[in-house]
Amino acid sequence: AFEVELRRSGRTLTVPEGSSVLAAVRAELPDTAYSCEQGFCGTCQQRVLEGEVDHRDELLTEAERGDSMLICVSRARGDRLVLDM
Ligand code: FES
Repeated sequence: AFEVELRRSGRTLTVPEGSSVLAAVRAELPDTAYSCEQGFCGTCQQRVLEGEVDHRDELLTEAERGDSMLICVSRARGDRLVLDM
């Protein structure tokens, strides 16, 4: 498990093994945009402010990976991520 802080919303969530960042975020922010949930459409892309991402999609370029992630499939490498949402 790892933590995700939603900085603009002022909330911190726990993402368990076997569950996605998207699922945890939607529990707090039900209007969060998503579509494919498989890492190929890009709808769920969010800006990352802190933390190292374990990118599991095939869509984002290396440049995009510098400051964003697809939260339906990608996870944290460490124990914490901070998202701009
Ligand atoms: Fe399609 Fe995440 S919902 S890439």
